[in-house]
Amino acid sequence: MKVAVLGAAGGIGQALALLLKTQLPAGSQLSLYDIAPVTPGVAVDLSHIPTAVEVKGFAGEDPTPALEGADVVLISAGVARKPGMDRSDLFNINAGIVRNLIEKVAATCPKALVGVITNPVNTTVAIAAEVLKKAGVYDKNRLFGVTTLDVIRSETFVAELKGLNVADVNVNVIGGHSGVTILPLLSQIEGVSFTDEEVASLTTRIQNAGTEVVEAKAGGGSATLSMGQAACRFGLSLVRGLQGEENVVECAYVDGGSEHAEFFAQPVVLGKNGVEKVLPYGEVSAFEASARDSMLDTLKGDIKLGVEFVK
Ligand SMILES: NC(=O)c1ccc[n+]([C@@H]2O[C@H](COP(=O)([O-])OP(=O)(O)OC[C@H]3O[C@@H](n4cnc5c(N)ncnc54)[C@H](O)[C@@H]3O)[C@@H](O)[C@H]2O)c1
Repeated sequence: MKVAVLGAAGGIGQALALLLKTQLPAGSQLSLYDIAPVTPGVAVDLSHIPTAVEVKGFAGEDPTPALEGADVVLISAGVARKPGMDRSDLFNINAGIVRNLIEKVAATCPKALVGVITNPVNTTVAIAAEVLKKAGVYDKNRLFGVTTLDVIRSETFVAELKGLNVADVNVNVIGGHSGVTILPLLSQIEGVSFTDEEVASLTTRIQNAGTEVVEAKAGGGSATLSMGQAACRFGLSLVRGLQGEENVVECAYVDGGSEHAEFFAQPVVLGKNGVEKVLPYGEVSAFEASARDSMLDTLKGDIKLGVEFVK
């Protein structure tokens, strides 16, 4: 398996690369790319860790050498939030970065599974899809918005609140990846019940958890370590699916034929061709149904912005 990380010298990229170096299956290749000149050095640094994963680093304007033969591409290139910024404030810079990188993916490794981490995910994934369509290589089963951070945050916060072993807590998070479009399905968690107040405050905390980190870092960036872990979990799940493991399920923001929007995060089964099957997200509570319905204008607006940017 060859996994490429674009944006690999950044806060997320370096954490993600470290976790992949220690957790990818033996014999894998890890390919790091960033415009920052330090990137080959990040690869040399990681290469001293004794695992059977070969690491190479590439810097400069052209990601092509890093993408050749990639099975999985994870993209965290771009700028991150500062206090007072919304994810949509990142659009002006990150939209162009994602467009340019996806053009290279389309030309170099069009069959790769691509996970987009760069915010605003609701929009950057739509941009990626349009670029791939223009290049004639779009396969909806191979493009993912990485929303795993919302899942791991939900699992952590629920376990803390209810005194549970976090390893036993699974939470599906549907919708998108910003503010009200993040909807954790707390009503579905087995063996746990919440008061209405707990549901309301936990949902808000999960939706604003990114801002909690941005404010705590006081201008020094947004979530990088927890996001590195989330992206590693998602990337390893993509690899396990590619290697033929069965029943690999993750929530992700996909073009999955949702009745709600062109892209919608929900649980998917991962396999040799990316999305093997989009799973129904199941029964939801009245609170969740109302939150889902009222997010849709925002989500569809975010998607439209991405489509129009490319057109
Ligand atoms: N999906 C999520 O849940 C989630 C969570 C947190 C952050 N993010 C997003 O991930 C992105 C990265 O965050 P970070 O904290 O790692 O930021 P960072 O500033 O630490 O790193 C970004 C890296 O991207 C590189 N870069 C910029 N333009 C590039 C280009 N054209 N090609 C290659 N590399 C390029 C920079 O040199 C830098 O090393 C941000 O957009 C952030 O909002 C997403």
